[in-house]
Amino acid sequence: MPQLGVNIDHIATLREVRGGLEPEPVFAALVCESAGADSIVVHLREDRRHIKERDLCILKEVVKTKLNLEMAVAQDIVKIACAVKPEQATLVPERRQELTTEGGLDVVSNFKRIRQVLKRLEDQGINVSLFIDPDRRQIEAAGKIGVSMIELHTGRYAGAANAKKQDTYFKELETAVDFARDRNLHVFAGHGLDYSNVSRVAKIKAIEELNIGYSIVCRAALVGLEQAVRQMRALING
Ligand code: PXP
Repeated sequence: MPQLGVNIDHIATLREVRGGLEPEPVFAALVCESAGADSIVVHLREDRRHIKERDLCILKEVVKTKLNLEMAVAQDIVKIACAVKPEQATLVPERRQELTTEGGLDVVSNFKRIRQVLKRLEDQGINVSLFIDPDRRQIEAAGKIGVSMIELHTGRYAGAANAKKQDTYFKELETAVDFARDRNLHVFAGHGLDYSNVSRVAKIKAIEELNIGYSIVCRAALVGLEQAVRQMRALING
């Protein structure tokens, strides 16, 4: 059964709506952990639209499970990551205009830059994962670059317009997982997963971790964060 990483970016989004201090992402992280989350995920975006350095530093002190920092391969962000030293960094592409991370990292086209960043982070003892599309070329490039973990983008599966398309994208995901396992990569997955589509993905045996944010925070607004994490955990546990 995969581990559950809870992304708490949108707890900070809510805080930023009024620019105050509530809700406190660190408080949310503790609630998620006590409700069964195996790791806490945050994305320090270049525009700092939700999570700030301050959040990252306190989270590093407080999180007892695993802190997974999603980050672009931008110089200033790499510098912060090297200083804070989260247990894990997930390299993601980033565009300022996007509402959320739209696609996977293009490892093929940015091979050299990603390899440099990978080395810098690993030198600081940070485990690095690459967030990529379920695409053979990208998985092959991830294998070549020397990373040991990848996170497959489930956005196409999660956002499929109908059941037939969802089946197609599910098969694409399963094939990509096998392809990555054949290359000895640890495989995680995430993006767009929610209470209605997570079970199928959680049943893919080789997937070791699912990273989920938006749907959990949405449900938390109605039933509370602890309950929302427990419900997601139960679905993943099957
Ligand atoms: N994994 C990665 C690499 C992401 O960038 C995100 C979004 O921040 C997620 C998982 C979680 O996606 P969602 O918020 O749609 O559950």
